[in-house]
Amino acid sequence: MSNPSEAELIHMFKGIPFTTRSTPELLKSLDTFDAREDDVLLVSYPKSGTHWLAGVTMKLYNTQVTLTSPIEFGDISRLEELNKLSSMRIIPTHLDYNMLPPNFKKKKCKMIYISRNPKDTAVSMYHYYRDNPNLPTVDTWTAFFDLFLKGDVVCGSWFDHFLSWEEHANDKNILFLFYEDMKKDLPKIVKEISLFLGLNVSDNDIQDICKKSSFSEMKSNTEKENSNPSHTVCALTSNRRLIFRKGAVGDWKNHFTPKQNRRFEEIFNEKMKLSKM
Ligand code: A3P
Repeated sequence: MSNPSEAELIHMFKGIPFTTRSTPELLKSLDTFDAREDDVLLVSYPKSGTHWLAGVTMKLYNTQVTLTSPIEFGDISRLEELNKLSSMRIIPTHLDYNMLPPNFKKKKCKMIYISRNPKDTAVSMYHYYRDNPNLPTVDTWTAFFDLFLKGDVVCGSWFDHFLSWEEHANDKNILFLFYEDMKKDLPKIVKEISLFLGLNVSDNDIQDICKKSSFSEMKSNTEKENSNPSHTVCALTSNRRLIFRKGAVGDWKNHFTPKQNRRFEEIFNEKMKLSKM
């Protein structure tokens, strides 16, 4: 059987490429989604550490909470499913700020945005694309590098996504985190997340959560659960080996040529002129 064509896998919605697993009907109806005051959103551009953040956040609660798959994933029945959940909802999303259902903003739901060095994000996404039959085929790193810089990948431009959220980084209901800070000092960030969520978690429990959230621990646990797709935040694969790949900072150095690095820096500096980060 031949590989599905790009048109079968990707469609554009408001100028952003989505996989066909996010139906246009669902994307359109997000505007009317009924948020609840206690919803917590985990927001990211793909491959920025969403699963890591979700793993940590879930362990902070000792009450019943449900981690859903991304809100933009599925067909129109998705909203009904989410409405039916009786427990508190932790909802991941890769939507940019402008596309977020307005009710989350109106109700000032807590949102945690995790960002990662876009060079490492690009490399992580390249591997994810390469090994994932639900995404268009990419032949080489060079080809993917160009697509990434153009924003011609799922969820669109990293720069646009980051800038749309950065504008709200100081909103009281938004916590801005960096993957690299989690790598450097996980207990500090876990404490920050627990305070932001208003949860009283002891230092001992934080240490324990960090141990259970290390890359090796999460990777080996998830390999055991590999057969159960409901155990994944990622909506495009149930193969967890695709998600827990290397978990390192600076892997871009093994992929970028000096010329690609210069080009990336030029575009980064241009696009991020207005960024405060
Ligand atoms: P790499 O492909 O660079 O290894 P997301 O969850 O947003 O899809 O992001 C996936 C990236 O986060 C992958 O990066 C993955 O290895 C990394 N990751 C997942 N869990 C991690 C952990 N516990 N510690 C460090 N990195 C982790």
